[in-house]
Amino acid sequence: MSIKTEEISSLIKKQLEGYQDDLAAEEVGTVTYIGDGIARATGLENAMANELLQFSNGSYGMALNLETNDVGIIILGDFDEIREGDQVKRTGRIMEVPVGDAMIGRVVNSLGQPVDGLGAIKTDKTRPIEFKAPGVMQRKSVSEPLQTGLKAIDALVPIGRGQRELIIGDRKTGKTSIAIDTILNQKDQNMICVYVAIGQKDSTVRAQVETLKKYGAMDYTIVLTAGPSEPAPMLYIAPYAGAAMGEEFMYNGKHVLIVYDDLSKQATSYRELSLLLRRPPGREAYPGDIFYTHSRLLERAAKLSDKLGGGSMTALPVIETQAGDISAYIPTNVISITDGQIFLQSDLFYAGTRPAIDAGASVSRVGGDAQVKAMKKVAGTLRLDLASFRELEAFTQFGSDLDAATQAKLNRGRRTVEVLKQPVHKPLPVEKQVIILYALTHGFLDPIPIEDIGRFQDELFDFFDSNAADLLKQIKDTGDLPDTDKLDAQIKAFAGGFQTSKQLAAAKG
Ligand SMILES: Nc1ncnc2c1ncn2[C@@H]1O[C@H](COP(=O)(O)OP(=O)(O)OP(=O)(O)O)[C@@H](O)[C@H]1O
Ligand SMILES: [Mg+2]
Repeated sequence: MSIKTEEISSLIKKQLEGYQDDLAAEEVGTVTYIGDGIARATGLENAMANELLQFSNGSYGMALNLETNDVGIIILGDFDEIREGDQVKRTGRIMEVPVGDAMIGRVVNSLGQPVDGLGAIKTDKTRPIEFKAPGVMQRKSVSEPLQTGLKAIDALVPIGRGQRELIIGDRKTGKTSIAIDTILNQKDQNMICVYVAIGQKDSTVRAQVETLKKYGAMDYTIVLTAGPSEPAPMLYIAPYAGAAMGEEFMYNGKHVLIVYDDLSKQATSYRELSLLLRRPPGREAYPGDIFYTHSRLLERAAKLSDKLGGGSMTALPVIETQAGDISAYIPTNVISITDGQIFLQSDLFYAGTRPAIDAGASVSRVGGDAQVKAMKKVAGTLRLDLASFRELEAFTQFGSDLDAATQAKLNRGRRTVEVLKQPVHKPLPVEKQVIILYALTHGFLDPIPIEDIGRFQDELFDFFDSNAADLLKQIKDTGDLPDTDKLDAQIKAFAGGFQTSKQLAAAKG
């Protein structure tokens, strides 16, 4: 029996092919440098970008820089025991996090591991933390509203499902409160929320989770936290991990709201680890790809086409400014890649106008198409009116003799500012927002003293609840204004019986 040489060589070739595959998966490198949360290693020639690597002490890392001689690695976990000369192994897997229904109601870290002490999360589904954003053909334009429950936002800068709306302002101007209240308002709205806390104190996050629990919002919310004491890589990957958790629902036809609180701290951590990895620093010492870091993240928010199930992911990134400077590097970058911004002013905040939204500098570029009809009718010109009121107010500070028209404008403006105020954790359903804004724009509030506007509003809502629930329901169901004669009649009936605080005091004394 003769054996053909070709047969032998083909057999050997076959064997070798299999052998090489095994070898690739077992590729092991050596740590050459170890720093704060980062490492470099040689011998990992075939490592992929974002590949999960394992150090000999069991810790994981992610390949970030792929260079000719070595690989720059961000370490996800304990790096105290890693030494130069240690081995680091390829896993052949791209960095992933657990996803799925089991994550809802839990507080997790950037790796998707629970930190709430409620035991293991039982899910076998995972998603890569970096995922290509849906393309043009996979998207649909934003058309359904996302109600924040905040009058000043739903009326002035409406947000649609699938939109990216930036919340920007100095420290302590109420940025987080807006995000949390928006999550509270998603109760029974068929929405899943992901709150990503980046670099926030553990005590702060704890308080936020308590708030969410108190209002029943943890039933549909995932909280992901990367605290300030964690290594920089955990803060850097937090928003991507959160996005992966949200995407799981979006690609299954559901609606998701994701909050990144905040991307300034994420950018700082990225700068830190980029400098440690010796990437060339650019403007404000941020690495050259800081813009891409945020744009590829925010592009993942989308309204998907019907063919893909019609799910959506709405993103509310938060940016902290210094002294209201929105022209700094990171703020301008993020402003340019979002569909609008809600700009919070500390002056307004300290003057008691809360939420401290600057109507002139805030916009929503796509949400108008998604706004409910009734709201559009009552709030149509509110934003411009408010901006011109602010101008008029500044101007008339110097003069005393005002003509009647200017006086009326100022009167209305002051009442508008008052109506748009709203305390924390008190989101309002859209039908009630419509009622009070209708009353405002149709002059029913003009004779009411400023200090009584808040009470007028609350009592008006009570009145509608008990006397005109059908009108409220009609707005809710149709999204349009009911018969305005009926509406006028009800508001008049209420206003007729309303007592100003002076009247009340007089009656008492
Ligand atoms: N509409 C509001 N009415 C009354 N108080 C408010 C309102 N919004 C926020 N606050 C209060 O202002 C404080 C700061 O709010 P918040 O934490 O939301 O601001 P922030 O901009 O996220 O702050 P930080 O810079 O610390 O992240 C909180 O005590 C909050 O309760
Ligand atoms: Mg905050």
